[in-house]
Amino acid sequence: MHFNIVTLFPEFFSGPLDCGLLGRARDARLVSFAFINPRDLTCDKRRTVDARPYGGGPGMILMAEPISAALQSLGFTPHSAAGPGPLFLFKAGGRPFTQTEARRLARERLENEPCLTLVCGRYEGVDARLEELFPVESVSVGDFVLNGGEAAALCLIEAVSRLRPGFMGHAESGAEESFSGSLLEYPQYTRPETFAGLAVPEILLSGDHRGIADWRRRASLRATLEKRPDLLSGAALDQEDREFISSLDRTLSLGANLYCALVHYPVLDREENSTAASLTNLDIHDIARSSCSYGLGAFYVLIPLDDQRELLREILLYWTGGRGALSNPDRAAALALVREGRDIEDAVEDLQRRTGQRPLLIGTSARSPACALPLLGFAEIAGELAKRPVLLLFGTGHGLAPEALALCDALAPSLRPLGGYNHLSVRAAAAVMFDRILNDWR
Ligand code: ADE
Repeated sequence: MHFNIVTLFPEFFSGPLDCGLLGRARDARLVSFAFINPRDLTCDKRRTVDARPYGGGPGMILMAEPISAALQSLGFTPHSAAGPGPLFLFKAGGRPFTQTEARRLARERLENEPCLTLVCGRYEGVDARLEELFPVESVSVGDFVLNGGEAAALCLIEAVSRLRPGFMGHAESGAEESFSGSLLEYPQYTRPETFAGLAVPEILLSGDHRGIADWRRRASLRATLEKRPDLLSGAALDQEDREFISSLDRTLSLGANLYCALVHYPVLDREENSTAASLTNLDIHDIARSSCSYGLGAFYVLIPLDDQRELLREILLYWTGGRGALSNPDRAAALALVREGRDIEDAVEDLQRRTGQRPLLIGTSARSPACALPLLGFAEIAGELAKRPVLLLFGTGHGLAPEALALCDALAPSLRPLGGYNHLSVRAAAAVMFDRILNDWR
């Protein structure tokens, strides 16, 4: 595989490309590299490659002309999709480069020598016209900013080269690693059996190959669920895997520390006056179902009117202990999460009794209400869940009244802050909010 590297700093690559397996692959001519410095293709005396951005702003921009000249010297033609092979531009704002793509590139034209061209951005960026002129894909190697694309190009070179046939001694060492089946790698151990008081897991010393394979599979699933749950949706999982993950998910999930309350008083009416709203059967069922699906600790239905609380009790009794429970046990499990109360203070007291901690009270609103509450982002709310119970308050009617918001410690972000139409039902908003906060399957 041949790599053309367009860079202002070819010297950056000496060293990384010469050592270890990559160095050996280079010696064996499995991979080869050519460096093209756009500065060598400039026409002015000062060999200029960068200039200030039009429209102002900090820093310098890599000019299109020297990069275009470099690409033309490699066989690319402006306004044409043809060229010697795939062309990448590294920049922080590119789409993420993944193992799937590394695998796809490693399979490129196995019979002929495939050629990848890598353009390393520098300064504040590259003139955007380059991406209009050439069939270039801009990629990033992570959500952080490097000084330039050189370190990113090295990542791609290594990720792709190591998957080429003959690069590694054992054909399978590439296949068993993290990401290969969309799962992270299981932990590995080597001699000695005990180090600094820590013993190797016994199963690995047992010689029980089936047992070891099961242990490794579960360790991979656990690591992926804990560190990169977003990968699980793309993983090939069998029924046993799914059952194991869901058993883990219950114990690992922060959802158990999240509680929600549906507040019926004080809420706003259409004229923005404080009022009490009446119970809605659908909200109780649907928020209970979402709470159960996301593993929440409890769902409080708070309503001060005695006859309405009576009605709530009747509904709950029917579905958790009566005929409803017999015909629909799943619904019984969801509605078993519901707790009744008169007001927000009732829910706080109950939580304090249950958990021994005062919950963090977080208000929700479709708009940004004019109040002095600090805004907590979804990730920040998830961070709080690791420390203490969090009670999310949802208002019925036209939302929580200022007196209810005054009891809160913070406000959750609005779900559709930029859209024009923003009228989710409270049960839909609750489900979306749980998902954004717990964000567990991304
Ligand atoms: N250039 C600067 N930061 C980068 C990143 N994260 N990935 C690719 N190229 C970059």
